[in-house]
Amino acid sequence: MALHCGRACRQYLLHLAHDNVDFRLPEIKALLSLRKRPFDTSKTFSEKSPFWHLNGLSEDDMRRVMSRTICGKSSFELWGHGTTTDELRTSLLKYPAENMAPYLQHNSTYKINVYTFNKTLVFKNRIKKIDALDFLPFKGTVNLKDPEHIFCLLEDYGSDPNDIPEEPFHIYFGRWIADGQRELIRSYSVKKRHFIGNTSMDARLSFIMANHAKVKADDLVYDPFVGTGSLLVACSHFGAYVCGTDIDYNTIHGIGKASRKNQKWRGPDENIRANLRQYGTESLYVDVMVSDASKPVWRKNAQFDAIVTDPPYGIRESTRRTGSHKDIIKPPVDFIQRLFKMKSLLHFLINNTVKRVVLRNKKYFFIYILNVVYSCDGKAEFSTAITSVFSVT
Ligand SMILES: C[S@@+](CC[C@H](N)C(=O)[O-])C[C@H]1O[C@@H](n2cnc3c(N)ncnc32)[C@H](O)[C@@H]1O
Repeated sequence: MALHCGRACRQYLLHLAHDNVDFRLPEIKALLSLRKRPFDTSKTFSEKSPFWHLNGLSEDDMRRVMSRTICGKSSFELWGHGTTTDELRTSLLKYPAENMAPYLQHNSTYKINVYTFNKTLVFKNRIKKIDALDFLPFKGTVNLKDPEHIFCLLEDYGSDPNDIPEEPFHIYFGRWIADGQRELIRSYSVKKRHFIGNTSMDARLSFIMANHAKVKADDLVYDPFVGTGSLLVACSHFGAYVCGTDIDYNTIHGIGKASRKNQKWRGPDENIRANLRQYGTESLYVDVMVSDASKPVWRKNAQFDAIVTDPPYGIRESTRRTGSHKDIIKPPVDFIQRLFKMKSLLHFLINNTVKRVVLRNKKYFFIYILNVVYSCDGKAEFSTAITSVFSVT
């Protein structure tokens, strides 16, 4: 467990949120690849664990990942770890003193936090754990309010809330580097969004999708099923120019019935442009237009950097096509039949869209997410899944 390394080979610990577990790995890999960095972890790496060791990175790489990640909560320079307190102590004592020294100076201020996963510790026990670290050569002064350096002891008690062990499975100690962007989930909540619809994509998933698609400043991003533009909001947050199309005239023009409780009709400025204005990215709004994704609307070789979209699933939002009534597929009564019809129609719509555009840098990315649908007796009819991910480089 010893971390014998100099400046060039520090290990970093990423503490991940325990939601959207399936989306964490593609998000972190995508953010590292934006920096052209590999995803290199310890041999004992477990995707489901809330703690990942990352190798071969610099502190700057970690800061850049944290400046975008929604799945990552915090990152640390890992000073030591082990399965017992003795192992942790041995590991910490082996950590190069020159790596620690800049953060333990006489004239510095610091604090130590204790974080426990799947267990709550009483205050007294937290203090005991901090006191047990007194073998570390801290020379600065404790400052709980505004310290220069923050250290953290992180304990992993597994993920079974019905079987919490007395002692943690694994213990980590490190210097805090940066937090992720989970604050965006609250500040971009659709509850406070100017223009919303019945199927507006929630902020958390919108940002995760924009990260998966590696959307970056000055990219041109297109959403063929734009709805109220939640994905455009997320992509423009990362500096991309955004545009979209939707078959629904009322949605594109921001008119018709409102989706908010206690409001009958949409107001005069409820539209996608106003959503971007709300978050200060109106200058990145290209335009949106009414169009059927299965029909040709783009000139040959139209270029986009990424297509990020949340297609109609046929459950909350039906898949629609223009044309004569006999062409329109009515949802079959049987659920499984309906799922298959829906999937083939989605593939048709998406393939048509993709064929009509050229993606600059030859990369594109789609995710479609099937939501869990609960019947009246509380049974899930099918589970959440990423049904298709296309990524071409
Ligand atoms: C799941 S919603 C997208 C929600 C959107 N992400 C948002 O945040 O509001 C799917 C959208 O696809 C649109 N749609 C359905 N069939 C379409 C088609 N053939 N072409 C274009 N848009 C279509 C619907 O009008 C709906 O707005």
